[in-house]
Formats: sequence, structure tokens, C-alpha cells
Amino acid sequence: MNNTIRIAPSLLSADFARLGEEVRAVIAAGADLIHFDVMDNHYVPNLTVGPLVCQAIKPHATVPIDVHLMVKPVDALIPMFAQAGAGLISFHPEASEHVDRTIQLIKSFGVKAGLVLNPATPLYVLDHVIEQLDLVLLMSVNPGFGGQSFIESTLPKLEKARRLVDTAMKNTGREIWLEVDGGVKRDNARRVAEAGADTMVAGSAVFTGARNTAAYAEAIAGIREEALAGQRSLALETA
Ligand code: DX5
Ligand code: ZN
Repeated sequence: MNNTIRIAPSLLSADFARLGEEVRAVIAAGADLIHFDVMDNHYVPNLTVGPLVCQAIKPHATVPIDVHLMVKPVDALIPMFAQAGAGLISFHPEASEHVDRTIQLIKSFGVKAGLVLNPATPLYVLDHVIEQLDLVLLMSVNPGFGGQSFIESTLPKLEKARRLVDTAMKNTGREIWLEVDGGVKRDNARRVAEAGADTMVAGSAVFTGARNTAAYAEAIAGIREEALAGQRSLALETA
């Protein structure tokens, strides 16, 4: 696995009245990706933003936009988000009748494809598709809201996912990212990285404090420092 940690601030906790500024501020603060949560009040009990808002932030986003679709059905929105400038699009297997087809649809636009597993979704949904994916995203909260507590059973699940991702990377010679979403903070980032995550979504832990670039930079640096320590100890364990 790679020696790197990507931090993806979730705009769900940003100030929606100043989204462009917030995007520029977190990127200046060190964000590697912009995590964009799309909710439909059907697949999840909340309603957020669609392709128009993605398109509106795109000129401000000098890092890839990591679109997390919590919508059902999912296929019709994929071309729209591809055109709106998504760098990655992830979806939940429960929201697609044909998971393989949805992955191919995302990739047909030259966009990276991710599959998202809820806390209770078993890893075997990856069995026949993992080698086509660019991203495996494990939810560490039930999707729908920011600011929830990290579900601890994600850690052993991550360890198993790490092994599946490593095997798939070896077989394909391609990079596949292992991302975690929900309740990630400075005080658990070390354990999350030690369990194998290389990409971390953080909403409420980043958009905090004085809500300016300096505050975001401090939050991102704190998470990254802990995560890199976890990644180093994982590397020693597996060496
Ligand atoms: C939850 C979303 C998350 C959420 C993370 O459904 O997918 O991206 O915004 O927020 P925190 O980091 O506050 O748990
Ligand atoms: Zn998300």
C-alpha cells in the first residue's frame, strides 16, 4: 500500500451560504479532495445538493471532487455529476439494481468509480467488482448526517478490506483507494490508518473553530499527523 494519507473535508459541515469560499479555504488548508455528499430524502433521511451545486463549486476546486451519492436510484444522476466536474463518483450497492453496470457507467465518463459500504453491508459485495473499482469507501456511521460518532466495528472491517484492496491492486497493477467516512477526528485517525485506510473524510472535525483557513489547516494537519503515525505503525507490522 502507498505511504500517503488523503484528507477529504466533507462540505456537509461547511457554510452553504459561502460554499465557493469554503472550498478555497479548505484547499488552501491542505485538503487533498473535496467530499461532496448528495442525499435524496429517499435512500437516506436527509436532503442536500445536486449537480448544479457541484458545477458551481468546480471552478473553486483545484483538487478532485469526491462525489458521494446517497441516492436511489442512482444511474440517472451519474452523467449529470460527470458533466458537473466530479473527479470520483461513489454509490451504495443497495441503490443500484445492477452494480457492475453502474460502475461501468461511471467509468465511461472517465470518472473514477467507488463503491460505498454501510456499517452493516458485508464486504462480500466487493467480491466480483473490486478489480474494476478505483475507490472502496467504508461508512463508519450510518449515512444521512454529519457529526455522528464513529462506529468501532469499522476497524476490524477495515483491516479485512485492506487485505482485499491490496490483493486487487496486485492483480490489476492499479491504485485503489480505501476511504473511511463518518466520525473521523484527530483522536481516532491513528487507529483508522492503522486499520488500513489511506483516505479519510472529515466534516465536523475540519469545519470547526474560527472557520477560516488557519483553523481548517490546524484541523487537517492534526488528522494527517495522527493518520501518518498510524500508517507508519501498520507498515512496521506488515513488514
Ligand atoms: C454522512 C456523510 C459524511 C459526513 C461526515 O452521510 O456521508 O460524509 O458528512 O461528517 P462527519 O465527519 O462530521 O462525520
Ligand atoms: Zn460522505
